[in-house]
Amino acid sequence: MHNDLDVIKSKAGEEIASASGLKDIHDLKVKYLGKKGLITTQLKTLGALSREEKKEFGKVLNECKNHIQDLLNKQEAILKTSELDISLKTQNIDVTVPGSSVPFGHLHPVTLVFDEIISIFLSLGFTVEEGPEIEEDFYNFEALNFPKDHPARDMQDTFFICEDVVLRTHTSPVQVRVMEKNAPPLRVIAPGKVYRCDSDVSHIPMFHQLEGFMVDKNIRMTDLKGILELVVHRIFGPNTSIRLRPSFFPFTEPSVEIDISCVICKGSGCNVCQTTGWIEILGAGMINPRVYEKAGYDPDKYTGFAFGLGIERVAMLKYGINDVRLFPENDMRFLKQF
Ligand code: PHE
Repeated sequence: MHNDLDVIKSKAGEEIASASGLKDIHDLKVKYLGKKGLITTQLKTLGALSREEKKEFGKVLNECKNHIQDLLNKQEAILKTSELDISLKTQNIDVTVPGSSVPFGHLHPVTLVFDEIISIFLSLGFTVEEGPEIEEDFYNFEALNFPKDHPARDMQDTFFICEDVVLRTHTSPVQVRVMEKNAPPLRVIAPGKVYRCDSDVSHIPMFHQLEGFMVDKNIRMTDLKGILELVVHRIFGPNTSIRLRPSFFPFTEPSVEIDISCVICKGSGCNVCQTTGWIEILGAGMINPRVYEKAGYDPDKYTGFAFGLGIERVAMLKYGINDVRLFPENDMRFLKQF
């Protein structure tokens, strides 16, 4: 029996030493120490031996088993490091090649400008209100002193849903909705989408406005001017001037259009301002007493101003964009620049 073991042991030594890969080591483990392996088979013969023989042979057998296990472990470790060496030598990884980057999105330029303007008004104590984009004729026109068949309705190229329901053409209907539900004093902005049936370099059928209004006792036109001047300075810089020109809106009296000094040529005249040095950015005025009547306010007690600012217009001036249609197109080459 001892002889058998010596043969197994020396054969195992040879085979393990000449194993050239981890697969060989695995096979040899099975061959010698596996369930039906040569050493395991020897262990099974122990049962038939006398107590004395069992003790002696068992000890030798165990030593032999440990010896083989040891050889296997050592050879396995050697092969593992050499396999790593080989793979390091043969598989060249160029760590300087740029990785594939995950593209990050960001906010749309209209959203960026909206957020900036809204936060300016929030800092002045205004609160934000919203109204529906599908609006009743009453709020979009009637309550704002546009009687049916009034020519001023033509100023707003309206999309009709049906006779009395429209896609709102401006954010001004929110004035009436807020006044119906709240008593003065009011200091409100209403940002949102508006719709007009119009499309060219400076018009798109859906665009964004920010309505603002303030109603209380003794609100004057100078309050309007002061607040808008401050907002314009924050958006376009402190050297931007504003001017008020007389205009007409049925829901304000008097009405004005407000220009800023051209942000491109600083007032000296260029093609953006059509050589006038001024650019129109919003419509405004003192709220017409007729609107207060429709909303249930006492026009003798309260006064207030309102204005409507086009967001795309501000974004175009701020970023030097010459075609408003670029905003809804979603061409990544355009959007990536913001
Ligand atoms: N709603 C007007 C428009 O879209 C702008 C405006 C708002 C004018 C508030 C005066 C007061 O043209």
